[in-house]
Amino acid sequence: MSTSEGQFSGRVVLVTGAGSGIGRATAQRFAQEGARVACSDIAGNAAEATAEFIRQADGQAIGIHCDVSDPASADNAVMETERAWGGLHILANVAGVLHIEHTDRVTDEEWTRVLAVNLNGTFFTSRSALPLLLKNQESAIVNVASLAGLIGQAYCAAYCASKAAVVSLTRVMAVEYVKQGLRVNCVCPGGVPTPLIAGFTPPEEADRDLMSRLSLVPEMTSAEEVAEAIAYLASSSARSINGVSLPLDKGVHAA
Ligand SMILES: NC(=O)c1ccc[n+]([C@@H]2O[C@H](COP(=O)([O-])OP(=O)(O)OC[C@H]3O[C@@H](n4cnc5c(N)ncnc54)[C@H](O)[C@@H]3O)[C@@H](O)[C@H]2O)c1
Repeated sequence: MSTSEGQFSGRVVLVTGAGSGIGRATAQRFAQEGARVACSDIAGNAAEATAEFIRQADGQAIGIHCDVSDPASADNAVMETERAWGGLHILANVAGVLHIEHTDRVTDEEWTRVLAVNLNGTFFTSRSALPLLLKNQESAIVNVASLAGLIGQAYCAAYCASKAAVVSLTRVMAVEYVKQGLRVNCVCPGGVPTPLIAGFTPPEEADRDLMSRLSLVPEMTSAEEVAEAIAYLASSSARSINGVSLPLDKGVHAA
């Protein structure tokens, strides 16, 4: 792992959901390219484990406990990042949860939980980070939405609604802060083999025909491939790209 050289050398990155899956791969990717990375997760031990893995490979990272659905916790993660590294250039909003159920059986609690993490968490962390991000000439937010935010996926009402809202929030911030040098984009992965997708089992009495579109592609996208796209969107190579929702689904959305 190279630390002092790389396209993100001198840049500070905050990654939410960095304790597992796409978030962990994203933190590692930025660190490999020279960034100083704040790895945050509601699972504080997992965040620290990612940071330790990066440090063992001569990268620069800290672990932070953060529940993105709690605005005070999001504020604290940004403050800890600034305390450790003196600023913030890139925010990757990766933390997320999935819930599968017939829409008419979704409970108040599950609806609220999914929206609280996926949508509120993206908003709270972005709001906390914006003052620091806007101090720089060039900064970037990359949100992790989902293919589920672009299509109607049966049995995923709260998840799809939350991710579609992340797509919208991405566009709003992209337009609002473009003159201040901030770009905001999101990636929309299809299936990625992580603990989250392991929970993707159809609910009882599901009509599997309604889910057939998702099985068009024989092979899933890896967490590392998603991390690569996030790093690209955050990089100066993507300086003209702002407000996009990039499907990483091997063509399912196009079909
Ligand atoms: N795996 C897929 O197929 C897939 C597809 C499209 C989008 N996504 C999105 O990618 C993102 C990462 O998911 P993943 O597949 O790596 O799953 P994952 O379960 O491996 O990782 C999610 C991480 O988010 C953390 N987290 C959950 N609630 C949190 C909270 N309140 N505050 C802070 N951290 C919290 C978890 O502890 C975990 O470490 C999610 O936003 C998910 O919706 C995943």
